[in-house]
Amino acid sequence: MNQLLDKYGRKITYLRLAVTDRCNLRCQYCMPAHGINIVDRKELLTYKEMYRITRVLSELGVDKVRLTGGEPFVRKDFVNFLESLSFNKNLKEINITTNGALISNHIASLEKMKINAVNLSIDSLDKQRFFEITRRDVFPKVMQTYQDLIKSNLTLKLNVVIQSGINTDEIIDFIELTKGDDVSVRFIEEMPFNGKGQREVKEVWNYNKILEKIKAHYQEVEYLTAKKSSTSKNFKVKDYKGSFGIIPAFTRTICSDCNRIRITATGLFKNCLFDDGVFNIKDFIRKGASDDDLKQLFIATVQQKPINGFVAEANRKSNKVSESMSTIGG
Ligand code: GTP
Ligand code: 5AD
Ligand code: SF4
Repeated sequence: MNQLLDKYGRKITYLRLAVTDRCNLRCQYCMPAHGINIVDRKELLTYKEMYRITRVLSELGVDKVRLTGGEPFVRKDFVNFLESLSFNKNLKEINITTNGALISNHIASLEKMKINAVNLSIDSLDKQRFFEITRRDVFPKVMQTYQDLIKSNLTLKLNVVIQSGINTDEIIDFIELTKGDDVSVRFIEEMPFNGKGQREVKEVWNYNKILEKIKAHYQEVEYLTAKKSSTSKNFKVKDYKGSFGIIPAFTRTICSDCNRIRITATGLFKNCLFDDGVFNIKDFIRKGASDDDLKQLFIATVQQKPINGFVAEANRKSNKVSESMSTIGG
C-alpha cells in the first residue's frame, strides 16, 4: 500500500477535517464579534466529497480522523455524515472537537457509532466569564454536555485555551475536575488566529509557565507517557481519577513527531496549522480527478510538509493573524 510519508520520515496518519467554517459561538481568541467572512455554501466541501477524501486518505494509511469546524454540529446532517464515516473499516479512530452547545441530544447516537472521543472546548467554569469569552450565553448547555459525556462511554478531553489576564486563575479549578471525574483537561497555549488582523500584546502563558503554576500548587504530579505524535504532554495529580495535559501549540515543541494534515471546510489542504495551504482539493474533485489522481496529489503534497511550524510560518505569504481559527479547524 502507498503510504503518506514526508521527507523527514514522518508518517501521516491523522486527518483533521473541518466540516464547516460556521460557529454558534464567537470566542474572543478565534473570531471578531462582528463582520466575520462566512464563505458561500457552494464553496464548502459537500459530505460526499468529504467522505471520498477520507476514504482515499484512509487507503494511504490515515487511520484517525478528527472532525472540527467552526462548530461541526452547526452543519445540517453532521450526525448522518459521522455515521457514514463510521463504516470505513480503515479508520481506527473518529473523533470530534466541539464547543458542546448543540450536542447533548446526539450523545447516544455517537455512542452507537464508532466515535471514540470528544474534545470539548471550555475555557471557564464561571458562567459570566464563559459569556465574556464566547460572547454567547450557553454555559449551562455546555456544562450539561460535560455531565452527559462523563456518564457516556466516549473518551472525554476538555480543551482550555489559556488566555493571559482572563482565565489563568482557573487552571487549578480545572485540574480539580480530574479528582473525581475520568476526564483529561488540556491547557492550550493561545495562538494568534483570532481573525482580527492583529495580536494583542500580552504576558505569555506558555507551556513552562502553565506547568510551573500547577507544580507550585500540587506536591505530587506524575508524568504520563503518551503516543509520540500526541499534541499534549500529559500528567496527573497523584490519586486523582483523571489527568491533565498541556499543548504547546504556539511554542511548537511537538512538530518533530507531527502526524497531521488538515483539510479546511472549503477544501484547502494544509500540511501545517501555520502554513498558507498547498492546494484546494475541491478544484481537483470538481474537475473529475480519479482516486488515483488524488492519491498521487496527496503523496506529492506531504513531501512539502515543513519540518516545523516556525518554518511554515516563515514561508507564509499571507498575514496569519488575519485568519480565524474557525476557518482552519484548529
Ligand atoms: P487528540 O487527538 O485528542 O490528542 O486531540 P488534538 O489535540 O489532536 O486535537 P484538538 O482539536 O483537541 O486540538 C487541541 C489544540 O491543539 C487546538 O488548539 C489545536 O489547534 C492544537 N493543535 C492540534 N494539532 C496541532 C498541530 O499540529 N500544531 C499545533 N501547533 N497545534 C495543534
Ligand atoms: N489558540 C489556541 N487554540 C485555539 N482554539 C481555537 N482558537 C484558538 C487559538 N487562537 C482551539 C479551540 C478548540 C480547538 C480546535 O482549537 O478552543 O478547542
Ligand atoms: Fe467557535 Fe471554536 Fe472558534 Fe470558539 S474556537 S468561536 S467555539 S470555532
